Amino acid sequence: MAAGVFKGSSFVFTRHPNSELAAGLSVAPMAGLDEGLIHCEVALAELEPGGHVAGHYHPFEESFYVLSGLVLLSIDGHSYRLEENDFGVVPMATAHAWHNVGNEPVRWFRMRSPQPRLPAGPEASYRPADLAVPEAGRDLETLTPEDRFVGRFADQHLPSPGPLSIRGYRGGNVRNISLWMLIDDLLGAIHHTMFIVEFTPGASPGDHYHPFEEAYYFLTGSAIARLDSEEIAVEAGDLIVAGTNALHGYQMTADVPTRWIEVQAPAPPPSGAFIFPQDWDQ
Ligand SMILES: [Fe+2]
Repeated sequence: MAAGVFKGSSFVFTRHPNSELAAGLSVAPMAGLDEGLIHCEVALAELEPGGHVAGHYHPFEESFYVLSGLVLLSIDGHSYRLEENDFGVVPMATAHAWHNVGNEPVRWFRMRSPQPRLPAGPEASYRPADLAVPEAGRDLETLTPEDRFVGRFADQHLPSPGPLSIRGYRGGNVRNISLWMLIDDLLGAIHHTMFIVEFTPGASPGDHYHPFEEAYYFLTGSAIARLDSEEIAVEAGDLIVAGTNALHGYQMTADVPTRWIEVQAPAPPPSGAFIFPQDWDQ
């Protein structure tokens, strides 16, 4: 029943140990097994100019959201040129390769689920794929039905604030929320979801818990997080973890909208996904 806040200043990048597989890749782990998660892990990844990750595949899903910079991704017979706010999922056993051909480092938020199996380490489960590192890629401005695993988020996608409507829950316990699903089974993820959440200033989603894990990476704004019996201030750059059955609720404290990237694993059931003790008390 893990729950906690991890400050942005505590995320430290270290160079990937295998410089042949991953040249110029650094990863800052944010939360995983040591932080009480058992179904997923989240991290920041940074690839320096000229850096690449050679073609490989693995027995877990990996989803990403580009935070800054440009990067080429080869997957599923396509090569893409990804920029800020582009996202996607690498399904299990799907060959992919990354390449930064720009002049700036590229940084992305990374989610992996099921959690890569330790103690051998996730890289022990990598398998090399016969897939070249991409040298060029197509912009995501126009997507075709063949582009199955990637997408681009834009502010205008967010609906007007209202009550929460998401797989597994629809109702008034969470109000003044705008939610845009990025990654779920429609995009090829079976084990997890990833979406953008934005709350209006002053919004206060009620305390609840889940039969799955959640993590949120704050992009804008701030909040007081109620995590089990603790209250903790959270701001942009911080990560919240709410493990299975951990009671959590929030009070937004910024005078601007508070936005985060949220992930859930395992993927929520079709109903009974959000449990509000206040409803059951009544
Ligand atoms: Fe939640």
